[in-house]
Amino acid sequence: MSHASECLEKIAAQRAQWGDKLLILGHHYQDASVVACCDAVGDSLELSRIAAASNADRIIFCGVRFMAETAEILCYDGAEGRQRRRSVWQPAPNAGCPMADMATGEGLEAAWQTLQKALPEDVLTPVVYVNSNAEVKAVCGKHGGAACTSGNGHHVVKHFLALGHRILFAPDQHLCTNIMRELGYPPEAVALWHRDIPGGGLSEEQIRSARLIAWDGCCPIHASYTTSDVTIARKAHPGAELLIHPEAPSAVASLADKTGSTKGIIEAIHRAEPGSSFIVGTEDHLVERLKQLPGKEIHALRPILCEDMGLTTPEQILHVLETWDEACRVRVPEELIPDARACVERMLAL
Ligand code: 13P
Ligand code: SF4
Repeated sequence: MSHASECLEKIAAQRAQWGDKLLILGHHYQDASVVACCDAVGDSLELSRIAAASNADRIIFCGVRFMAETAEILCYDGAEGRQRRRSVWQPAPNAGCPMADMATGEGLEAAWQTLQKALPEDVLTPVVYVNSNAEVKAVCGKHGGAACTSGNGHHVVKHFLALGHRILFAPDQHLCTNIMRELGYPPEAVALWHRDIPGGGLSEEQIRSARLIAWDGCCPIHASYTTSDVTIARKAHPGAELLIHPEAPSAVASLADKTGSTKGIIEAIHRAEPGSSFIVGTEDHLVERLKQLPGKEIHALRPILCEDMGLTTPEQILHVLETWDEACRVRVPEELIPDARACVERMLAL
């Protein structure tokens, strides 16, 4: 028997002993060998919701740190409950998200204070992409803000703008710029906050004329798409519909037939007539899986891989199952949980 199939057999044997007391979750960007070990596969929000609704004592989260943290934040039932039941485990504890790491709680707090001082008459509401660390979510929650995903970002941004608030959006500049463009706002409605420049590098005039101030973070993977990727792919696959993840730069995303979250892209392809053809601009593990759908023709805009997503392996899942190694336990500091949870729950309630 090969090493790989021996490992999968051991995982299945361990898994069977736990029954419904254990839940193994995997993000769509995980490798097929990891997906084969999972009880459910989904986008980051779906997985957190499944984790929160589950009665499992232990949840193994195959994805990156912010996702496992969000599950832990939603699973938290107070100090007693946390010890009593659901604990979250990340098989590759070093799998982070470079974009999430582009914003710190301290940085967001300082930006919010500076901007609120410059806008004394206004309500400045932070909105943070779910791809952010727990401390960033906690600052957002503390100031009355909400999280959003690439799927519900339009809805969350629209909600606060309709209340007359201005928005401080972190950490993805491209997601919020795409949202504002798609909501019909002109480019000058977005001002870019440069996190390494005191005062964000913005004049009072720029701050006052912006409806949304965008943190200057990005996903290095999706932000690497260029307009020439689109030209080349369109030429190679004439007639194919172009779907691009909104973490791509606005110049690229605006050329798509549709921007779509991970879930949005999957659903659009599933809904399409047999024989439809698509060019897909997102992480390649997912694109490769979509290529296996019968009756649909799928091409990568250009194959892009998230290295952090690729860090999880079946061997590491087995390691957690055999040892419950504390190094793999996800522990969001208790003091961050109430505000971080308020941030996530506000999004769920909108
Ligand atoms: P989802 O929230 O759609 O799962 O996306 C996560 C992500 O990391 C996108 O790059
Ligand atoms: Fe982070 Fe980008 Fe990887 Fe998603 S694809 S986890 S946003 S680095």
